[in-house]
Amino acid sequence: MPEPLALFGGRPVQPQPLRPYVSIGQEEKDAALRVMESGSLSGFVACGDDRFYGGPVVRGFESLFAGSLGMPCAVSFNSATSGLVAAVGALNLGLGDEVIVPAQTMSASAAAVLAYNAVPVFADVEERTYGLDPESVRSRISAKTKALMIVHLYGHPARMDELMAIARERRLRVIEDCAQSPFAMYRGSFTGSFGDIGVFSFNFHKHANCGEGGVAVTRDAELRERLALIRNHGEVKGTRGNLSNIVGWNFRLTELQAAIALEQTKKLPGLVEKRRRLANRLSHILEAFDWVRAPLVEEGCEHSYYDFPMQMDLGWIGITKGDMLRMTQAENLPITESYRPLYWQDIYRKKIVYGEQGFPFTQSLSNQNSENYRRGSCPQAEAFYESRCLTFEICSYELEEQHMDRIGVMFRKIEEYALRKKGVNA
Ligand SMILES: Cc1ncc(COP(=O)(O)O)c(C=O)c1O
Repeated sequence: MPEPLALFGGRPVQPQPLRPYVSIGQEEKDAALRVMESGSLSGFVACGDDRFYGGPVVRGFESLFAGSLGMPCAVSFNSATSGLVAAVGALNLGLGDEVIVPAQTMSASAAAVLAYNAVPVFADVEERTYGLDPESVRSRISAKTKALMIVHLYGHPARMDELMAIARERRLRVIEDCAQSPFAMYRGSFTGSFGDIGVFSFNFHKHANCGEGGVAVTRDAELRERLALIRNHGEVKGTRGNLSNIVGWNFRLTELQAAIALEQTKKLPGLVEKRRRLANRLSHILEAFDWVRAPLVEEGCEHSYYDFPMQMDLGWIGITKGDMLRMTQAENLPITESYRPLYWQDIYRKKIVYGEQGFPFTQSLSNQNSENYRRGSCPQAEAFYESRCLTFEICSYELEEQHMDRIGVMFRKIEEYALRKKGVNA
């Protein structure tokens, strides 16, 4: 008699719940202590001298991060969300503009656009990479389209050749949301190095973290200046060349966070490499199952595996998405849903963000895209969420090879149960 599923009283494949991922070690503790002992927890002043760019540790983190990606400069933020908002502002996007955003991503990729009263127009995602589908992008371009928000979802690069060709052809600015893709590569270059601005996250569930934090990279000195102005109150624009129309906020990272982020940046290649090793093992294990497809790695690409998305034919084994979530939770190896299409959120569905008059959609959304937020608008993203794609949060737990092996054992248990049940019912 095979071991029953834990959901039905059997022993869980993973005896205890997985421990949360911890990448903070002695180096981070020592670095944080040095900042504490210095007494200077932030070095930013919104003034005309160099203190405008933050303290020494903030600047040290930025130059290490930029250098590790082969980029000339980086601007740190207190989150990737702040970095994305600043990127939208730095590129001068605003009222009357549309920005094409993938329908399936984390909410901040689109919300950042709304911060400047431009609107996101959602394009569908692509079946193999989970990134923007170039054909869908083309179909969304209107006279109001000004930029693409390219997200390298789960850590796999989007189709950059095609997307950058569209951007060049249609004169669109490009923001890369690399929150999930540190050190992911596309044809020999890191994600974040293709567009005008690339934004990375250092929040607590990313490969590397400082609690909350973000960092933007760019090759353009003026964009760097604009990002820095938006980060730090923008008061000194008069002293910084011909930079007008900038409203600045406080999106600054503290010295304490920067000290941790700096140490984490040193470890980042190793942290990503470990996820790759685990993911490769899991992908290999999944080859034994006809109803599960591991994430593909397209030719010329390197995945960073923030997440491990799996395409599943649950109908084939005769269980629902809900069954899968409950069964895997009980086995202590939880598989989770993929992202809900963003346009299902009320702010888009009802077209109400600020006030109750439909602003900024009334001014920024073109007639061509007025139905963009209707159900059915991005079928691939909807199918992924509803049933096709489930993920294992490979960056959220302390994992070793044995845990990957146990996922294989768990899927075998589920398959046997489901097929037995199907046979009985047939
Ligand atoms: C794709 C994507 N973009 C943006 C963000 C926002 O990052 P942060 O939490 O650093 O603001 C996240 C965070 O999970 C993300 O996954």
